[in-house]
Amino acid sequence: MKKVKVALLGFGTVGTGTWQIINDNREEIVKHCGYEIEISKILVQDTTKKRNIDIPEDVLTSNFDDIVNDEEIEMVVELMGGIDQAKEYILEAIKRKKHIVTANKALIANFGKEIIEAAEQEDVKFFYEASVCGGIPIIHSIKESLTGNKIQEIIGIVNGTTNFILTKMTKEKASFKDVLKEAQDLGYAEADPTADIEGYDAAHKLTILASLAFNTPVIFDEVYREGISRIDKIDIEYAEQMGYIIKLLAIAKEKEGELELRVHPTFISKYHPLASVNDSFNAVFLKGNAVGELMFYGRGAGDLPTGSAVVGDIVSILKNRYNPYSLTQFNSNMPNKKVKHMDD
Ligand code: NAP
Ligand code: HSE
Repeated sequence: MKKVKVALLGFGTVGTGTWQIINDNREEIVKHCGYEIEISKILVQDTTKKRNIDIPEDVLTSNFDDIVNDEEIEMVVELMGGIDQAKEYILEAIKRKKHIVTANKALIANFGKEIIEAAEQEDVKFFYEASVCGGIPIIHSIKESLTGNKIQEIIGIVNGTTNFILTKMTKEKASFKDVLKEAQDLGYAEADPTADIEGYDAAHKLTILASLAFNTPVIFDEVYREGISRIDKIDIEYAEQMGYIIKLLAIAKEKEGELELRVHPTFISKYHPLASVNDSFNAVFLKGNAVGELMFYGRGAGDLPTGSAVVGDIVSILKNRYNPYSLTQFNSNMPNKKVKHMDD
């Protein structure tokens, strides 16, 4: 079996999810792209830290040079977060002709253009599906499947942590502080949860979605942003009494050639489909002038859902870059799976 060596930068929530999927779904992955993925190096801060997953000792490193100087490593998957260091590593890896996958929305919202240009210059791929809405394939849909449309508006719940907090405050009357701690323990929150609570994370994601949907470089600072830190139990009770529910929405609309971009807590009718998007789930409503209304729904944070998007990007790069045969499911050499008939 042909093997491709890949390095991870970071082995926290998303890194371990990615590792687990690559190991558990090895056979499926090979069927899709024809390659076995070997994670040959993982960059962490502390190689002595106790980890939940047993990994061979020689795989962990705290020295980026071990990765970037290794010519056998063809792809670098950045899952460490932060901006400056992540950007430096990604640009260095691009210079060494390594393909890049990342889940880092803060980095893309601020420096996406520079990184994409660097990748194009070196003719390497730069994929970032996991940066918006965890496991929901929203970026692929906008960049590929919906390109026959003029997109008119996007309205989404795009932050899992704040949706988790608002859901628990509404349904269980839980306190903001307790639920935030729970979201952190579940691996949903950013390293600094201010990014979630104050709406920066949702604004990063809206910057990425709007740039792609409206085909224009959107500047992160131009997104109006307000978080949920000032939402109190009393606000939630008032909303309920009036038949509303409070959600942190990210909204992008094009009106008469101008973009409206905003993230803020919003009263929505309890009968609206977004009102039933609970816990760490995300959802995005999108309106295109050909397709009409679409709604995407799924887990917006956490190890396996986000890892699912990361692995999808790795496989896409392997499929498109190295392996022009992409319709493996229709390949006559593949074993047929038995179909269960309703009257069996
Ligand atoms: P995390 O759990 O905090 O893990 C970060 C990992 O990166 C750790 O393994 C850490 O090493 C390593 N690391 C951090 N800074 C480093 C540095 N300067 N040098 C070397 N290693 C470093 O983070 P996460 O939740 O997995 O998030 C990772 C990225 O994915 C972020 O960009 C985040 O925004 C994005 N994301 C997260 C989610 C989610 O649900 N968590 C979903 C979508 C996207 P140690 O283990 O030694 O500390
Ligand atoms: N902190 C982010 C969230 C992770 O809660 O949505 C997923 O991007």
